[in-house]
Amino acid sequence: MRIIVHTGKGGVGKTSISAATALRCAEMGLKTIVISTDTAHSLGDSLDLEIGPEPQQLRDNLWAQEVDARYSMDKYWGAIQKYMIALFTQRGVKDIVAEEVTILPGFEEGAHLLWIDKYVRENFYDVLIVDAAPTAETLRLLSLPDVTRWWFEKLFNLTRGVGKFLRPLAKPLLRTELPDQDSLDKVDNLFKTLDSVRQLLTNPEMSSLRLVVNPEKMVIKETQRTYTYLNLYGYATDAVICNRILPDEVTDPYFAQWKDLQKQNIALINEAFGELPLLKAPMFNRDVNGMDTLRRLGDALYSSRNPAEVMFKGTTHQITPDQAGGYLLSVPLPFADKSDLDLYRSADELTLRVGPYRRNIVLPHALWDLEIGDAKFEQAALNIRFIAKAGAN
Ligand SMILES: Nc1ncnc2c1ncn2[C@@H]1O[C@H](COP(=O)(O)OP(=O)(O)OP(=O)(O)O)[C@@H](O)[C@H]1O
Ligand SMILES: [Mg+2]
Repeated sequence: MRIIVHTGKGGVGKTSISAATALRCAEMGLKTIVISTDTAHSLGDSLDLEIGPEPQQLRDNLWAQEVDARYSMDKYWGAIQKYMIALFTQRGVKDIVAEEVTILPGFEEGAHLLWIDKYVRENFYDVLIVDAAPTAETLRLLSLPDVTRWWFEKLFNLTRGVGKFLRPLAKPLLRTELPDQDSLDKVDNLFKTLDSVRQLLTNPEMSSLRLVVNPEKMVIKETQRTYTYLNLYGYATDAVICNRILPDEVTDPYFAQWKDLQKQNIALINEAFGELPLLKAPMFNRDVNGMDTLRRLGDALYSSRNPAEVMFKGTTHQITPDQAGGYLLSVPLPFADKSDLDLYRSADELTLRVGPYRRNIVLPHALWDLEIGDAKFEQAALNIRFIAKAGAN
């Protein structure tokens, strides 16, 4: 099975692109399901059909589902959350606050990710398209199941031990019921599923993340940040999709400046995402809904391409820790002329220029306080070493 996740800022066109991509895959004969967690039900609007919380077949080879985050949350986490709320409220935390702090960060938006595990195991679909991007929090949750598990076990080791011998005493002591075995099993199951989803999503042969942007500076900047963190956590991004480009046939002088700006911003996209393939879709003369406009969007994006193929292998930059407590930023630059290199650095950004080639990379937090030690071309890559500042401890 192939999994394609469309991620990007609010309103850029993730739902439209997910629906168009799913339709395209289905019409190529691939059994395709598109899932979304959007409570506003925009996937249904986009496809112009009612879609429920269970997979629903819309036409040959095409299924869709609007995942109910609350339902998934209750199913996996509800019992244990009730217990924690009880525990917190007795210690004087207000109900409403207790409820907030007992939600696993990122879980609510990430509920749809749990379905990925199910669909991969069932192996019925050829392609799974995911709309409603996992937020940074969700990705962190997936990247760190061990940490989350550690946190959970710390919290419950006490009650587990107590459960065995002192269960009868626990109630007066903690003034609440202990979570029963069934709840603990459910939580254990949740962590196992998260582990497995992370493995599936970080397997580059199976899963591709695609970054959806509009040709607007702020959107591009924020998406660069997402891209850096996706790389850091080991998720493979294989394309950038630029949606809403003013087409050539728009010649009204009113839009002339917009078109110019868009051109400049598309150049920024190339600087930001290096060799990642860039798929483009025009701004249509109406909104995108219903099968006909979705088909037009799919044609514009993929032309003769198969959306289910892996469009790019490897990464356009990679950050790894070194033994000396620093980091190595490696930028593969197979085509660059290696003669003159310029680096411009601000705390959280690095711009490099090698001949006519420019790249702009958003740096993760761990590198902000480090300085550049050296930069070398080695094995078709530019390797930049980040080291502690002189005098810093
Ligand atoms: N290329 C396009 N041309 C014209 N209209 C578009 C285009 N792409 C998307 N739209 C319209 O823009 C609106 C927002 O698109 P969409 O819902 O796909 O964005 P989204 O990224 O899923 O938003 P959200 O973050 O709110 O979920 C919709 O009304 C859609 O029909
Ligand atoms: Mg949407």
